[in-house]
Amino acid sequence: MLIDFNIHGVSVFGAPLPFDSQLEKSFSNWLPDGMKNVAQTRQQEFIAGRYCAFQASKVVGYDLSQLPAAPTREPIWPEGILGSITHSKQMAISCVSVSDEISSIGIDAEELMKIGLAQEIERVIATEEELLMIAGADYQTDITILFSAKEALYKALFPLARTFIDFKEVKLIKLVSDKGLFELELKSSNPKLKGYLGRYEGSFKLIGETVVTVVSIPKVVSKELYVHS
Ligand SMILES: CC(C)(COP(=O)(O)OP(=O)(O)OC[C@H]1O[C@@H](n2cnc3c(N)ncnc32)[C@H](O)[C@@H]1OP(=O)(O)O)[C@@H](O)C(=O)NCCC(=O)NCCS
Repeated sequence: MLIDFNIHGVSVFGAPLPFDSQLEKSFSNWLPDGMKNVAQTRQQEFIAGRYCAFQASKVVGYDLSQLPAAPTREPIWPEGILGSITHSKQMAISCVSVSDEISSIGIDAEELMKIGLAQEIERVIATEEELLMIAGADYQTDITILFSAKEALYKALFPLARTFIDFKEVKLIKLVSDKGLFELELKSSNPKLKGYLGRYEGSFKLIGETVVTVVSIPKVVSKELYVHS
């Protein structure tokens, strides 16, 4: 199914998991040889992600025929298209873009965090300031958005910067729940991130019990990077 994120030049497509067995068969040639012995559920989510990438690409007019994975797991998109893949227990989703205004994009899906888990990990994934910002009636949703948004930014930046980013290096600075928008700020002393420091806008959607976030990196940011690196 198409998911309406209303982000200019970006299409988002999702498929329920467990994945349809007929479609899994049709897309089985997208599974790399190295994954033929991994658990069935992992093969299924991998193929479902590729199927979503194929469908999302079709929407923006691109006929995607293969999508290999790098040793560091990120998909290797062909020239002229970029995107990202995520899966939760319930669904696989991919977002893609052929826009020349975007240099990278990241998507993440997370099931709403149980209160117990949220309280256990909140100090690992958020600062005191962020926790104060999301304290309130929607804590469970908001902490899941915070976590997912940081993962989506990581997935967008990794193919460009090729470095690890700690949760505390990214801060949620704005959350506009009724508009499905958020803003993150990357601050880091990691030299590989020098060209990427600053603010990023993202969008989120709650689909059933799953939070889905998308963050795109505007091209100007990566142009600055190429000057610095
Ligand atoms: C890579 C990572 C983001 C994956 O997230 P996840 O919630 O475990 O899994 P998801 O289902 O959302 O995403 C998995 C998909 O992401 C993509 N992916 C994996 N590694 C990636 C990377 N380094 N960069 C971009 N995309 C990546 C792949 O398409 C993968 O699916 P596939 O293997 O079936 O193709 C996460 O495991 C990780 O390593 N995080 C590092 C730390 C971090 O997130 N910091 C956040 C602070 S900014």
